[in-house]
Order: sequence, then structure tokens, then C-alpha cells
Amino acid sequence: MSDEYKQFTRELITRLDIVDVISNRINIKKAGKEYQACCPFHNEKTPSFTISPQKQFFYCFGCHAKGDSISFVMQHDKLTFPEAVEKLAQTVGLTPPKTNKGPIIDRALYKTMRAYTLLAKQDLQNDKTIIKYLQERKIKPSILHHYHIGYSGPRSGQYIQNQLKNDQDASTLRACGLLSEREHKVQAKFFKRILFPIQDTQGRIIALGGRVIESDRQPKYLNSPETILFKKRQTLYGLYQLSKLQLDQVFVVEGYMDVLALASCDIPQSVACLGTAFTEQHWRLITRYSDKVVFCFDGDKAGKRAAWLTLTNILPILKPEKSALFMFMPEGDDPDSYCQNNGLNAFLQLADHSISWDIFFIKQLKACHDTTSVSGQAAFTDQAMDLIKTMQHKTLAQTLQATVLPKSEVNDTSNSTPVVKKENNFYSKYQSCLHTIFSQLLSKNDTPWHYEEDISNISHHQSLHALNSLLHHLREKPEAGSSDLRAVLEQQKVLDLIYEKLDPVSCIFSAHILTVALHQLRILLLEKEIRSYLSQQDKSNLTAHQRKIMHTLILQKKQLENDYISLLNHIPDAP
Ligand code: UTP
Ligand code: MN
Repeated sequence: MSDEYKQFTRELITRLDIVDVISNRINIKKAGKEYQACCPFHNEKTPSFTISPQKQFFYCFGCHAKGDSISFVMQHDKLTFPEAVEKLAQTVGLTPPKTNKGPIIDRALYKTMRAYTLLAKQDLQNDKTIIKYLQERKIKPSILHHYHIGYSGPRSGQYIQNQLKNDQDASTLRACGLLSEREHKVQAKFFKRILFPIQDTQGRIIALGGRVIESDRQPKYLNSPETILFKKRQTLYGLYQLSKLQLDQVFVVEGYMDVLALASCDIPQSVACLGTAFTEQHWRLITRYSDKVVFCFDGDKAGKRAAWLTLTNILPILKPEKSALFMFMPEGDDPDSYCQNNGLNAFLQLADHSISWDIFFIKQLKACHDTTSVSGQAAFTDQAMDLIKTMQHKTLAQTLQATVLPKSEVNDTSNSTPVVKKENNFYSKYQSCLHTIFSQLLSKNDTPWHYEEDISNISHHQSLHALNSLLHHLREKPEAGSSDLRAVLEQQKVLDLIYEKLDPVSCIFSAHILTVALHQLRILLLEKEIRSYLSQQDKSNLTAHQRKIMHTLILQKKQLENDYISLLNHIPDAP
């Protein structure tokens, strides 16, 4: 930060009153010399959030959030430091000095974008045909207003013509990307199109998307070019509207109309990327507002390709605390048509079947390689490793490598018998399962978790015995963490034995991964038990009793396989 910028932020703080800044955003009450409120940063019913006008500082006794006006706005409005400074500076009529991050933008550009959008909104209200078109597409009038949808008709057209008469205004129009210049002819870029204004995180209009309504006119959508205001790789359509909401999950869709249609069906939390792939910057931006991001793609090949590109783009910066999930529309549908035709609940149900990024990762890679052959398996492993190497979060990368790669052969749900077929595979599968399970258990935090079933231990293996005592302990005390579980192993004098088999334990605890691995282990053990009966049959006939046991085992295994498949297809906990 330059000295000039530091000086500016100091001056800004002195010009602002923290009481005004906060009371513009939440309800506050005077209490003696200070003010109190229910803290906006954690859930509470009685106020523990205090504001000191004297110190120009806030502090929460509940969650210990604290800071000045700028840090309040950063946290509350989910803005970066320079964004918060800029937003607050506007309220007191100041302009921040140039940071190294970007050029100063002439305010005239924002004014022009705003004026044009407001006139286009009027044009829309005056055009019955367009209103009717949007009604037929079931977009609610309140949503049209909320997203400032307009139409480039006579009024907004006239505005461009007027501005063109003055050189300076004309250059502002050009800088805004509102002109098209072909063969020395200058004219309005958007003509007779429905306009989708694109807003930045502060709500300023920075670009437009325009859709024709005539089916024979091309291109269907026209978007603003990149300008000093608009960088499409850093912008998401609908983000400003979403930023005002308290959200447990958000949806990323492909089109403007998807955002509006979902909002009209009471799903206000979606954004669209603007005719470009979803980038790292997009991920950083959207995860400011929610810990869970669900990507909705079309069910066709292009949708799968776009989903894969998205995953490989964000893989390097994924972190355990933010989860990415993928859902796919049935072929021929987009979120708009699906929601309009089948209703909100059907869409939400589909969302419930989203798969987490790690499962999509393995499924997609498996679809690209024939993993039944040795060379296919090698190519699969190479590609997976190349991608895993791009991940910056080392523990997440290690966990993905350790847990996803070994179980990859049974991950493909299109394969109806997801169990090892060859006996000689048994031992390595069994070891890898145990490895995952113990690594997970010995990384467990205090998230309550337990597993209902014991693990069958016909061979009286010491590791299985130890595992069962951990599972037993967790049934009694589901919130037990790794140190508690270590103590159980120590008591049984098997801690060293278990540790010997593990690499240094440092994986991220995931109840989902652990449950999946336990299911997998039980399937393996059942298979082994069934085989032991079958091999007896080769020598002599089975007694009726043995046959009965064997059939019970086969049924159990079938049931477990079904559970296992549905586990893989369900949304897991955040890793
Ligand atoms: P779609 O063709 O899927 O359109 O393009 P849509 O959003 O479903 O719109 P409707 O339902 O036909 O009205 C998806 C997105 O791709 C970009 C736009 O951002 C669009 O919302 N796109 C598409 C373009 O930029 N240019 C185009 O010509 C087409
Ligand atoms: Mn559509």
C-alpha cells in the first residue's frame, strides 16, 4: 500500500462516523455512551455487539469480531479492503488515490452506464411486445425490476445519439463499450435487444448483455466488450443481488435467463458466468458469500465438458472449508426450462443429488480411461496425479490422492458390482481401506459421528479388533476426537501397530470418506467370507445350514452395495 493510500484511509476513517456506517446496515440501540446490536457475524438473540462512538470501534463479546468502519464494511458487505474503502469514500464524497491494483476510473463512465440502463428500463415498460415475451417466459415483474432488466428502445437510443454530439461524451460512450464502430460508421452497440445489466460487487453497472427476441436474428446474445469497467473473468452476473442474502448454498448457472428464471421460482441465489469458463477469480469471488457452491450444468456433452473445465480451473485453489458440488440437468433442459416445467421442488431434489467435486473428479477420469486394462489404469493414474499436483492445499491433495485413487476402481457407479473380482486383489484393497479408515479416525475432530455396525472379524485380526473398539467408543461418545481415539488404542496396546502401517497421519477428517471406506471394507470382508464357503463347495457339498449362512451373506452384501452406491451419489459433508 502506498503512503498516499495509507494517508487517505486514515483521513477517510476520521471523516466517517462508525455509528452511521453500522446503523445504515443493521438495527442498533443506544446504551449509555455506547450502542448495542445483535451481532451480524454470528447467530444470537441477545445483543453482545457493541459500538463505541468515542473509539470509533466495534467489538462483539460473543464471537470477538472487532474493528473500525472499514473492517465492518469489509466483513458485512463481503468486500476486499480497496472495495470497502472505495464504497465508503463515495458516501463522504472522496475519491481514493490510485492503488497499484488498477487504474482510476472516471466517474462519468459509471454515470453513463447508469443513465443508459435507467432509460432502457423505461423503454422496456413502454414496449408491450417485450413485456409479453418476458411474461411468457414466466419472469416475474419484481424480478425484472430487481435485476434492472431493460430494452434498447427509443429513449435509450436517443440518449446515445445525444451523447454522440459532444466529443467528450462520445469518448465516454466508447470507453463504456456502448458503441459499435464498423467501416467508420459509429452507432449504438445494443439495438432492439433485451438488456441484462451486469453489476459489480458494489451494485454499479459495468456492462450489459443483450438478447434478441427474433429467432432469425444473430447473434442471440451480444455482450459488452472488456472495458476499463468490465473484466468478465472477474465478474459474475447476479452476484450483487445475491450478496445481500444470507445463504447456505449458491448455484452457478450458464445463462442470464437461468438466473432470472430461478429467481422467479424463489431461488434468489444464483449467478451466471458471462459466456466464459468459470475461473479461479470467479471461485474467490463467489466463496466470499457462501461455503457451498453448486454448479448446474446442462446434461449434454458440452455441459460435462464445461463442468470438467470448471473443476480443473478451481482445483489449484480449492480449500477444505469451501465445498464445490456438481449437478447436471437432464439432456435438453437448462435450469430455466427445468424449473419452469417441473417446479421448484423438482429442481431442489435434483440439487440434492449433486455430487461433490472429488467424486466428479474420479467419475470423469474413469469415463476417459479403460481402467480394466493395465495401460488404461496407468493413464488414469498419470492424469489424476498431474491434476492433483496442481493443488496448492497440500493436505487436501494428499487426502484426495490417498483416499480417492485407491478406491477408484470401485467408484464407478455404472458398474453394478463394485467389488473386487479377483482374490489376489483382496489384500491390497483391504490394506488400502484400513489405511483410509485409520487415517481418518486418527484425524477426527469433535464433529459427532458414529457407525452403527461392527466390522465382522472372522479371522480375528488385531487391526479389525482395534477398529471395532474405536467404533464402539464412538457409539458411546460420537464427539470423541483423535486424541480420545488414540487413547483407546493405547489402552489396548495396539497404537504402535496401527501407526506402523500409516504414513504420518495428516488428513482432513471427512465423515463421508470414512463412512464410504467402512462400507467398502465390510463389502470386502463379506466377499471374502462368501468365497470361503464357495471354495469349500469345490471340495465337498455344503450342508443346508452352511448354504443358508452363505445366502444371508450374499443378501447382506447386495444390500451393502446398494447403500454404498447411494452414498457415493449423495452430497457428502464438506471435506
Ligand atoms: P444459451 O444459448 O444457453 O442461452 O447461452 P440461455 O441463457 O439459455 O438463454 P435463452 O433461454 O435461450 O433465452 C447461455 C449463455 O451463453 C452466453 C450468454 O451469457 C448466455 O446467457 N451466450 C450465448 C453468448 O454470450 N452469446 C450467444 O450468442 C449465446
Ligand atoms: Mn435457456
